[in-house]
Amino acid sequence: MAGRILLIPDGPASLLYATELVEKLRQKRYSVQVAPTAYDGPSATAFVSELAWATLSGHPCRPIEALDEAAFREQDLILLGPVSPRVFSIFCQGKALSYLQAAGRPVLALLPQLCQGEPAPALEGGTFSQLMPPGSSLLAGGVPHSLGALGSLLLPPLEEVLSQVDCLLSSRDYAGKKVLITAGPTAEDLDPVRFLTNRSTGKMGFALARDAALRGAQVLLVHGPVALTVPRLPNLTAISVRSATQMHQAVMDHWQEQDLAILAAAVADFQPLHCAETKIKKGEAQELSLPLKRTPDILATLGALPRRPFLVGFAAESDDVEANAQLKLRKKHCDLLCANDVRQPGCGFAVDTNQVTILAPDAPPLALPLKSKDEVAHAILSEILRRIPNS
Ligand code: CTP
Repeated sequence: MAGRILLIPDGPASLLYATELVEKLRQKRYSVQVAPTAYDGPSATAFVSELAWATLSGHPCRPIEALDEAAFREQDLILLGPVSPRVFSIFCQGKALSYLQAAGRPVLALLPQLCQGEPAPALEGGTFSQLMPPGSSLLAGGVPHSLGALGSLLLPPLEEVLSQVDCLLSSRDYAGKKVLITAGPTAEDLDPVRFLTNRSTGKMGFALARDAALRGAQVLLVHGPVALTVPRLPNLTAISVRSATQMHQAVMDHWQEQDLAILAAAVADFQPLHCAETKIKKGEAQELSLPLKRTPDILATLGALPRRPFLVGFAAESDDVEANAQLKLRKKHCDLLCANDVRQPGCGFAVDTNQVTILAPDAPPLALPLKSKDEVAHAILSEILRRIPNS
């Protein structure tokens, strides 16, 4: 993710929480500069020195009082906090507020809450939105974070902060689009104990859903049984299903509202002819044959509809990758198909990276580089946007 962030940490929460935040933001490739508070009382520099902030962030560190309008203007987002209501009001009385208002960059404020039954932070949303530039928001309270001998504070979970940062800094190029995404494996029950499934973890589909939502799409994520957490984003809704038949039903119920459908799920092609009501016993048998029947092919069903969303399929192949994928593209009438070779190192199931080649009926194949699934998701969605009608 590209973006320049100015973090203004304050007080004892600087010690663990804000330093971890700097590290996580840098892992996401954001450029982070730190301007710690140095107001009276315990401030950020009392807990973490300017030199330590500079080392952690990789950029020179200047206290908040040393910043001018240009220093705010060169940022894309100001992360103010964790900051107490007292320090927020000091901040608002100083020169920093006028510089910030003139620069017009959005602020995300993180407000701690003391654990000992303290009411919600006194910093009212109304005051905040009157003072802060347009697009600013705040996150308050949350989960307890230990401050060692100083006690503990309730602070917004770091994952939530990172999601909000991604949201505020991402381009809104999918705003107004409705996108359905299938993800993960399906599970086909044999009896109350056993089922047939595959190695898919859902990472690629979840990365697509998250990126599309961050870029402003209204996302419906239909996923099979996965160990992943559904991203907490206001414009992302999830439907959890188990079997191919249930996934097919969920997609059939919702495809008509969609502009785009990306079918990234590894759907079982066969299901047991019957699911036994009680556990199948082995008895004396030395062999067992399971009669199976075909599941509905969701992608092919959508592809055969006369009016349908822009349709993107996936193809996980282990041999003759391009030829097999070209066949699927045409047979299932996709607008685009993302092919990946599951035998390549760093590709396919249960890894955090992927390499896909995008096939289209009317254009030469486009091989994307091996990258993290988040980055691949971003590149796929950008490519879709270039080709989807009326975008
Ligand atoms: N797919 C689907 N419904 C199915 C099977 C597959 O919607 N019952 C979709 C997948 O989500 C993917 C594409 O079809 O977008 C290709 O899936 P894949 O498993 O690679 O291929 P299959 O069509 O199942 O063919 P095969 O297993 O023979 O390679």
